[in-house]
Amino acid sequence: MDQARVEFFRHALGAEEKARILAALDETILTTGKYVAEAEAALADYLGIEHVVGLDSCTAALHLALLAHDIGPGDEVIVPAMTFIATANAVLMCGATPVIADVDPVTGCLTPATAEPHVTSRTRAIIPVHLYGLLCDMVGFRRLADARGLVLIEDSAHCIEARRGDVRPGSHGDCACLSFYATKNITCGEGGALITRDAKVAERVRTLSLHGMTSDAWSRYGKQYRHWDMDELGWKYNLDNIRASLLTPQIRRLDEMCARRRAICARYEEAFADIENLGFPRVDAPDASARHLFPIWVDAARRDDSIADLQERGIGVTVNYRAIHLMRYYAKRYGYLPGSLPAAESIGARTLSLPLFPDMTDEQVERVIDTVADVVAPRAQTAAVR
Ligand SMILES: Cc1ncc(COP(=O)(O)O)c(C=O)c1O
Repeated sequence: MDQARVEFFRHALGAEEKARILAALDETILTTGKYVAEAEAALADYLGIEHVVGLDSCTAALHLALLAHDIGPGDEVIVPAMTFIATANAVLMCGATPVIADVDPVTGCLTPATAEPHVTSRTRAIIPVHLYGLLCDMVGFRRLADARGLVLIEDSAHCIEARRGDVRPGSHGDCACLSFYATKNITCGEGGALITRDAKVAERVRTLSLHGMTSDAWSRYGKQYRHWDMDELGWKYNLDNIRASLLTPQIRRLDEMCARRRAICARYEEAFADIENLGFPRVDAPDASARHLFPIWVDAARRDDSIADLQERGIGVTVNYRAIHLMRYYAKRYGYLPGSLPAAESIGARTLSLPLFPDMTDEQVERVIDTVADVVAPRAQTAAVR
């Protein structure tokens, strides 16, 4: 490994996870079974939520959350323009129409005020995204959803650890969807979960995650054979024991890893506070964000060159995200034009994400800061950063 290079992300899987995955391989049941149940229980305990269903991605969780609320053709679902495409794609996957709304220019998040103008008689649900790890205004969204009879599904792919008062992922939405994708706060390569306070929704999601079968292999294993049946059409989205074996140790370390990411973000914010032409989304209270990503917002005209310069100097960077309504597919299918959702478009044109992961050393953090200052700020200002 190039010692000088600072990767954009590096997972924190260690000896315990490696030992557990080997142990999982020694079991008879490799698919959904005791390791999945254990990770679900650990997450339920951590989040203080009644029901957790392990799935093979957050995309699957979003898709099944919509299906479990009977959302389909003819229905509209409001999603933010500043998110990963999975949020809107899941709506299309169940045959409904994603209605893409603008976001708050200061946080990048969908708000009740930016979503409400898009509510029509066809609207069935809203999917707020806790972007970069920052909890959306879930009290406001709950109020709006209740007033207009809507389902509230949280895209919590970036956020497990955050709290704002009594708001946590899943506390105010009808469901929340988590991701354990390769670069997420906890990871098993590919994976996800749906969390909910509603036992019926959890049960339906579990059934829909396995073809709509009335029982799975684990619950049948070792028992006298009985025929299973199928009541409705489902998908094949279940999580397996091999991947789930990696999750429980990371769930135990969630707060510790988040604390390190918060400290790195605090240092980034301190160092970048006075640099002209460099902004970042505002986090209103330290605990309110899980600090999944640290994006900076630079001059749109210089953004792509800045990315190339940073990469050339050994700093791993990426873009989270360009506004989704201007992706070719959505622009063509729904006729979205540039200028229609200005806050998301502006963020999408200016944003780039810096390295952020718990095992980053202080030296690596300072190297990122120095290089960013050199690339983004006029040279005369660089001294102020050090
Ligand atoms: C905001 C957001 N939503 C949904 C997803 C989809 O997650 P998964 O890859 O687990 O399907 C991602 C993944 O990058 C994401 O960032």
